Amino acid sequence: MEGVSQSSFTLPSDSNGVIRMRDPANESGNSTGGGSSGTRSSENSSSGFSRRAFLRGSSAAAAAAAMVARPETASAQKANQGAEVVSGFKTITLSVNVQKHQVNVEPRTTLLEVLRYQLDLTGAKPVSQDGSSGASTVLIDGRPVMASTTLAIACEGKQIQTVESFGGAQPDSAPVAFVQHDAQQCGFCTPGFVVAARAFLDKHPHATEEEIRQGLNGNICRCGTYANVIQAVLSATKGG
Ligand code: FES
Repeated sequence: MEGVSQSSFTLPSDSNGVIRMRDPANESGNSTGGGSSGTRSSENSSSGFSRRAFLRGSSAAAAAAAMVARPETASAQKANQGAEVVSGFKTITLSVNVQKHQVNVEPRTTLLEVLRYQLDLTGAKPVSQDGSSGASTVLIDGRPVMASTTLAIACEGKQIQTVESFGGAQPDSAPVAFVQHDAQQCGFCTPGFVVAARAFLDKHPHATEEEIRQGLNGNICRCGTYANVIQAVLSATKGG
């Protein structure tokens, strides 16, 4: 039998020219070699690749992988050290429509629940808990978000604006355009549409009809009043 020596391992070839790996550390007492007959032990020794050696190698590989992964885990733990763990009720202050309100919330309490059931601001609607309807749209720091999928406790220190702030002696041009174009039927989706339209118009004051359709596609109207909604927003881009 001929072999090819490489550092600590020997790569022997059998009479058929097939190379077999052999670990010199396991060679002692297993020099008979060759053949496929015999017990599992003799098979391992003939190939020089024992289960014990394999498991040793696997353990070393696992330990090496763990050593590589450990710094990430440690850094993640370090990042979480300053995080506050909240359980039960907690009193927080929310700024809603430029007024500060103290409210009691649990970590799971949504902003929509606080607005409707603690502050009596019922414009944002609980149509879909996953926010897919857009009916609970409010502005947080000027950006449209779904109050139904936003935790109230995460809104501390931010400016929350609801559709109620669009009224008054000088109403916002968005709801005015909705009224002028009769852009509602049951009206359940309308507050969300109006808030989303305001956020869209702030960003795209000269939007085309196609851009308006794209920009408001996160809001759904079950009554199908889309044509009038689009016309209302389009008119707002032209000054109403
Ligand atoms: S007007 Fe009824 S859901 Fe839109």
